[in-house]
Amino acid sequence: MIVLGIETSCDETAAAIVTDAREIRADVVLSQLDDHTPYGGVVPEIAARAHLEHLDGLIRRAMAEAGIGFGDLDAVAATGGPGLIGGVIVGVMTAKAIAAARGLPFVAVNHLEGHALTARLTDDVAFPYLLLLVSGGHCQLLAVEGVGRYRRLGTTIDDAVGEAFDKTAKLLGLGYPGGPLVEKAAARATNPARFDLPRPMLGRPGCDFSFSGLKTAVRRHVEELGAPLSDADRDDLAAAFQATVAEVLADRCARAIRRFKEDHPQGGALVVAGGVAANKAIRSRLSTLAEKQRMPFVAPPLRLCTDNAAMIAWAGIERFRLGESDPLNFAPRPRWPLDPNAAPVIGRAGVGAGVKA
Ligand code: KG4
Ligand code: ZN
Repeated sequence: MIVLGIETSCDETAAAIVTDAREIRADVVLSQLDDHTPYGGVVPEIAARAHLEHLDGLIRRAMAEAGIGFGDLDAVAATGGPGLIGGVIVGVMTAKAIAAARGLPFVAVNHLEGHALTARLTDDVAFPYLLLLVSGGHCQLLAVEGVGRYRRLGTTIDDAVGEAFDKTAKLLGLGYPGGPLVEKAAARATNPARFDLPRPMLGRPGCDFSFSGLKTAVRRHVEELGAPLSDADRDDLAAAFQATVAEVLADRCARAIRRFKEDHPQGGALVVAGGVAANKAIRSRLSTLAEKQRMPFVAPPLRLCTDNAAMIAWAGIERFRLGESDPLNFAPRPRWPLDPNAAPVIGRAGVGAGVKA
């Protein structure tokens, strides 16, 4: 089975060709970083226009790299949400057009399910597994029991962890996107133990997260140190922030592991996914935790952690081989929780967590 995947839910335009034999035949990603950098974050309208401009060309490139034509495809999968709606519409309409013209099945993929199932594409991980999903808009712990079967064990009550990285980078004057820049600054730190930041939720019952207090603590240090920050101050603060996040994530995961093992005594892997999973300090902290708990640890290669279309094609394959596809009147979903039964979390301004992709 050969499937074309399309991803347009945020600021990466991406197309990929993946087979059910877990082979990535092509995987092209165009980052819109330069378009959004002047604004310090993603501007939805600019993103949608850029997707529209580049998607056709990227699909052509992916097909050429895979050495196939539209006649060789078995299905077309596109991110159907959650995400910035303008971009999602561009991807969904393009996929529907190809499906209609070629008489192919169309699969609308939940972007989060794309991240969640990546470990099965890369490492053939068996169900069930415990997933820490950490991206720009999400921070969740989920028991993954099957395709489309997720049980949320914890979520953030305020900021997503990627968002915390991005905001901290801004406070430190590092620019956008924050995650990779904070990681680089932390690696340059000469005194990483200099700042002691609060560890939100550490040791508290449950598996929920909170990051807004941590960000506020960074802001207070920046104000006390006074502008402009010296390179040493900036790098030491970045290191403190990253170490604190890693510790909090490990603490929450340790609690989730207990619950996961109660529900699934046969065991399963600890899997990390989403853009923040590209962070080496966080990966290494989680890997140590998994080892202690005697669980296999799976973290996809860095380029499959951040947004890409291979994960969308793969999630499409997983659903399609269970006999699922979507009608051509599928309506893009700006919100699309993985676990619709999870209790809403009252966070910032009364809005439930899991707002963005
Ligand atoms: O999954 P993703 O590419 O897009 C969303 O679906 O949100 O995640 C993007 C997020 C951004 O907040 C970015 O700062 C963060 O992932 N990120 C990182 C790293 N690389 C990307 N955070 C920490 N360390 C990194 N190396
Ligand atoms: Zn994502």
